[in-house]
Amino acid sequence: MDSQFPDELVSAALDARRHAYAPYSNFQVGAAVLDGDGGIWTGANVENASFGLTLCAERVALAAAVSGGQRQLAVLAVATPGGHAPCGGCRQFAREFSADMRVVLIDSQRSEVVSDVALADLLPMSFEFPQTGSRPE
Ligand code: THU
Repeated sequence: MDSQFPDELVSAALDARRHAYAPYSNFQVGAAVLDGDGGIWTGANVENASFGLTLCAERVALAAAVSGGQRQLAVLAVATPGGHAPCGGCRQFAREFSADMRVVLIDSQRSEVVSDVALADLLPMSFEFPQTGSRPE
């Protein structure tokens, strides 16, 4: 695969999975975001007894990057058993920061990248705020 991201991004997503708090689903997810300066930000899913409060790993990682001062986000890597794609909410959350982000799916059982897709292909006709658009500055 002709990858546009460092190997460290894949290991960071796999590592982040170790911190998942998923006692209800037992489905551990790790995510890592590559920013425009080459920095890597990670997150894991954090579940709650009130299920709807659960945070997805992708959103945790994206929020870490943004709250750490980075809005130019190039690649979102997600590690799950089986290499599943991000939920719809996380796709929209990611799209806020880059319409041309790439999404890399990793099968944590094999520690292997199984897919490298454009966010725009995962989320066609995405919503952006009508007046300003949603471009980060
Ligand atoms: N989950 C994520 O972390 N990312 C997704 O894109 C989908 C689902 C988490 C939420 C919950 O803790 C568990 O996976 C099962 O849905």
